[in-house]
Amino acid sequence: MGCDGGDLLRCRAIAMSAGGTMDGLDLLIADHNRVRGLFARFRQAHEDEDTPAMGELAGKIFGELEVHTAIEEEIFYPAVHDLSDELAEMVDEGVQEHHLVDVLIAEARALAPGDAEWVAKVTVLIENVEHHAQEEETELFPPVRSATDTATREDWGTRSEAMKAQRGAPTSADAAELTTEELRQRARDQQIPGRSTMTREDLIATVDPR
Ligand SMILES: [Fe+2]
Ligand SMILES: [Fe+2]
Repeated sequence: MGCDGGDLLRCRAIAMSAGGTMDGLDLLIADHNRVRGLFARFRQAHEDEDTPAMGELAGKIFGELEVHTAIEEEIFYPAVHDLSDELAEMVDEGVQEHHLVDVLIAEARALAPGDAEWVAKVTVLIENVEHHAQEEETELFPPVRSATDTATREDWGTRSEAMKAQRGAPTSADAAELTTEELRQRARDQQIPGRSTMTREDLIATVDPR
């Protein structure tokens, strides 16, 4: 699969992911949207009383959140902490919100999927993360974007991709191996919000290629 086949979009996307030039804030937003798709599917499985599906989706949600919060706490939050007192306060709160999610994940894992207490814990976890991700996107990321240059954010993106690879999570380089049609199909199956207006690059950043 070379870049001489004339598929310019595909080659640009491969160069982007292979070259690690993805914007770190865009990567975090893509993670949020992928997990929002999992939340929608979990809610549907709950409505359908499909316990095996709920268990499988919860496992995926926990795995996604563990990688995402590690990226934020090890790469993104420490860098943002130094930008201003106000931003430092926001990331300090973010760490505590992550901690609550860690506790709910650990407690849910000790229960049987489908058990009423398990459902309650996963539901509260989803509500907390939805609120947290929304707050990050509306109150934290815009001032951080204004206060940083592209090279800084691309450095976060490169390090975030490396952390995903290190933890065995799929990277955008993995997703870039799919055709655009395959990416669109997965985005539909994964109920990724906003998928209809996503470019190939957005899809590569957002879709779970597995
Ligand atoms: Fe977060
Ligand atoms: Fe986040």
